[in-house]
Amino acid sequence: MARKKVTVVGAGFVGSTAAQRIVEKQLADVVLIDIVEGLPQGKALDMMQSAAVEGFDTHILGTNDYADTANSDVVVITAGIARKPGMSRDDLLNTNAGIVGGVVDQIVAHSPDSILIIVSNPLDVMTHLAWKRSGFASNRVFGMAGVLDSARYAYFIAEALGCSIKDVRAMVLGGHGDTMVPVPHFTTVNGVTLTELLPADTIEAINDRTRNGGAEIVKHLKTGSAYYAPSASSVAMVEAVLLGSNRLLPVCALVNGQYGIDNLYCGVPAMVGANGVERIIEVGLSQSDLAALQNSAMAVKELVGALKG
Ligand code: APR
Repeated sequence: MARKKVTVVGAGFVGSTAAQRIVEKQLADVVLIDIVEGLPQGKALDMMQSAAVEGFDTHILGTNDYADTANSDVVVITAGIARKPGMSRDDLLNTNAGIVGGVVDQIVAHSPDSILIIVSNPLDVMTHLAWKRSGFASNRVFGMAGVLDSARYAYFIAEALGCSIKDVRAMVLGGHGDTMVPVPHFTTVNGVTLTELLPADTIEAINDRTRNGGAEIVKHLKTGSAYYAPSASSVAMVEAVLLGSNRLLPVCALVNGQYGIDNLYCGVPAMVGANGVERIIEVGLSQSDLAALQNSAMAVKELVGALKG
C-alpha cells in the first residue's frame, strides 16, 4: 500500500516538531513547507539524517513550493506568528488570518481532497476561516485545541494525585482561550470521576491553571509559545484520521445546533476518523458547564465577527 502523505505548513517550532513526530512514528511521508527559504529544507535534511539512528523509513521533504504538497491526504496548518509574553491568542487575529487564508488557497488548489487540521491561533477563528475559505465540507476542516488543553489538564491532575498519567482521561471543551471549559464530570482516573478524588477547591485551582496553561509557558519562554504538547496533540489527530480509528476527542469542529450553538466552530467531543470529524457527540453537561461552553462560543463568535470587519 502506498504510504499516506501529510503536509505540514509552517516549519517553525510546532510544525517541525509535528513533522518529526509523524515521520518517527512512520505514520506518513511528510512535506514540510514554509515561506522562509531554506528553513524547511534544512530541517527536513536534518530529520532525514536522524532516520538511520531512529530507524524510520518514512520520508520528509522540505520545500517552499506548494507543487510539492500536491495530493496530500492530511494538511496540518501551523503557519503564523506565535504569542509573546503579555499577548493573548486573540492578539494574533489579523496577522494570522491573512497568513492562514493564503495558505488555505494554495492547499485547496493542490490537494482538493485533503483533510485540514488547523493549529494556528486564535484557533477557533482560524478554523472557521479555513472552512469558509476552503469551501470544503465541514467534516474535513477542524482544529486542534481540545486535545492539547485536555492533555494539560491530565498532567496537572496526575501531578495533584501522584498517579500514573496513563490512567487519566481528561476533557476540556469550548474555545481555545481564557473561556475554555474543563469538565471534571467527564474527567476520570480509570473510570473514577475526578470529583470523587479531589476536593472542589483543588479541582478549581487545576481548572484555572489549565485555562492559563499556554500563557504559563509563554511567560517562561519569553520569545515564543509551547510546541512539544501542541505538536503531540496535532499528531494524535493526524493519526486518528490516517488510521481511521474513530477516537473520541475534544475537537474544534463546526457545531450545528448541538449544545445550543449554531454554525460556529468550537471545542466539542467528536469522533475523529478517516473522514475527519465523523460526528459530534452531544453529552449532558451540567447547567453551569453548558453556560460556560455557550459563553466560550460567544467569545469565538465575536472574533469571527471582528474578522469580517
Ligand atoms: N506560509 C507558510 N509559512 C509561514 C507563512 C506563510 N504564509 N507565514 C509564516 N510562516 C511560518 C513562519 O516562517 C514560521 O516558520 O510559520 C512558522 C511559525 O513558526 P513559529 O514562529 O516557530 O511559531 P510556532 O511556535 O510554531 O506556532 C505556530 O501555532 O500554536 C500556534 O499560536 C501558535 O499561531 C501559532 C502557530
